[in-house]
Amino acid sequence: MKCRKCDLKAAINMRQHKLALCKTHFLEWVCLQTERNILKYKMFSKEDNILVAVSGGKDSLALWDVLHKLGYKTAGVYIHLGIHGEDQYSTKSQILAENFASEHHLVLHIVNAKQELGKTIPEFSESNKRGKSKPCSVCGLVKRHTMNEIASKYNYDVLVTGHNLDDEVSVLFNNVLGWQIDFLRRQAPFIPAKAGLIPKAKPFCRFYERETAAYAILSNIEYIEEECPFSEGSTTIQNKELLNQLEHQRAGTKLAFYLKFLKAKKELFSSQEGDHFTDEIFSCPICGQPTPNPGNCTFCRMVTRY
Ligand code: AMP
Ligand code: FES
Ligand code: ZN
Ligand code: ZN
Repeated sequence: MKCRKCDLKAAINMRQHKLALCKTHFLEWVCLQTERNILKYKMFSKEDNILVAVSGGKDSLALWDVLHKLGYKTAGVYIHLGIHGEDQYSTKSQILAENFASEHHLVLHIVNAKQELGKTIPEFSESNKRGKSKPCSVCGLVKRHTMNEIASKYNYDVLVTGHNLDDEVSVLFNNVLGWQIDFLRRQAPFIPAKAGLIPKAKPFCRFYERETAAYAILSNIEYIEEECPFSEGSTTIQNKELLNQLEHQRAGTKLAFYLKFLKAKKELFSSQEGDHFTDEIFSCPICGQPTPNPGNCTFCRMVTRY
């Protein structure tokens, strides 16, 4: 199959977009589509200082690469969660994030959970009923808090994450299954600043995982291929498998599900897109971050208790 734009052999065939492209035109297409998403969802501008949350995985490193190529002012943040697995998962991903930053002469902030909070994620999880079986909810809590903390400490204008379409659709599917109205209301490509929380953007939310992986591989970006050892058997992975079956039967299903949701949201919810809190907001007396209840926030309660 030939590239739609030139005579070269296509490097990737995207049935979902009825589009096949050679390496050069594919890499160009990813940059163009990212720029289009940033504009469409009014995420940020070339004047903004952008903090990219990098996990060392394909999505966030590809995103950092694209934003840098497009001329955005970026720096990264990597959170060492102390997840070892069989292969030193956290340490290995930190090295890959550091390599990317130094090759591109970009700043990377590193936060080490064990050194700065006193415990690794598995250790917090052990001693906390929140994550008795799996540490993922403790992990999410620490990541959200730390990203927000670094962003406000260094005055970044926006935080971006590498969430791709498969991530978004899996969460959406789960939220629809449980009719989690508040979560559905909050799910958006861009969440504006609210109550002391930095704006959050997901410029890759319309790219299939296959596309971000192809971008990383074709750009020779070294990324961590293994998944977090705790993600095995998770609902997210099960949802992704189910959705991939649907996609296989009808190409474009995942993208249509997501885009139609974003459209329906406007009719379903009268309040602002990405509305974070409907009730009163309090400020945590320890860290100063917003919390829905008076007193210490969930993060500070966890860190000070154990
Ligand atoms: P996940 O929740 O692991 O699917 O990751 C979603 C996004 O969160 C990634 O694309 C990154 O942007 C960000 N992220 C995940 N883990 C980390 C980490 N350890 N440090 C910094 N950012 C992360
Ligand atoms: Fe947080 Fe796996 S990355 S538990
Ligand atoms: Zn071409
Ligand atoms: Zn707090």
